[in-house]
Amino acid sequence: MPEKKASKNLIGILISGRGSNMRAILDRISAGDLDARAALVVSNEPKAAGLLLARECGVPTLVIDHRDSLTREEHDRKMADALGARGVRLVCLAGYMRLLSPWFIERFEGRVLNIHPSLLPSFPGRDAQRQAIEAGVKISGCTVHFVDDRVDSGPIVLQEAVPVLDDDDPDTLAARILEKEHDLYCRAIALHFYGRLRVAGRRVLGTNPRVD
Ligand code: GRF
Repeated sequence: MPEKKASKNLIGILISGRGSNMRAILDRISAGDLDARAALVVSNEPKAAGLLLARECGVPTLVIDHRDSLTREEHDRKMADALGARGVRLVCLAGYMRLLSPWFIERFEGRVLNIHPSLLPSFPGRDAQRQAIEAGVKISGCTVHFVDDRVDSGPIVLQEAVPVLDDDDPDTLAARILEKEHDLYCRAIALHFYGRLRVAGRRVLGTNPRVD
């Protein structure tokens, strides 16, 4: 049987912790359901559990501890060098808990995605699930968006809703949202590489299911 050609859709994944979204992406790729290849996983936290998961999946990992750089840009330049050297075409933030410098965002303009556990623009920043419960909303969810230079604010690619139940606490709501995050992120990556996404101001067009 002819060997399957390696995908040219090279992604770099930035993490700071658990790495369940990263794992979902890697699993989808290895199942052959996402035409992409993980070129590198970078963590700013040496103890991030996701690093072990990535290694188990055979993906190269790199720790670039932000505490070893004087400025955010200096740290981001190290990441960009490593990602660029491996030909990364799309950077996926998956629980990466630091703001990126404007320099990095310009370097990978239109090619950085993030996932956030709320229906943005509601509840950006930390503790999104707690914010949702405290605001009394009946529906929350998750959002994949392009990253700009503000917190959780770039153009929205895809969203998925989940109900907020009477007896929810931040953990139960987080778990319900996380189940949706994994699939949503993979779908957004696929759409990006499919090449039909167009950013028009705040809007990302080309995400509707095609009917033809
Ligand atoms: C997820 O809830 C994601 O939406 C947010 O950080 C969390 C990361 O979880 N940005 P994991 O590390 O992917 O498990």
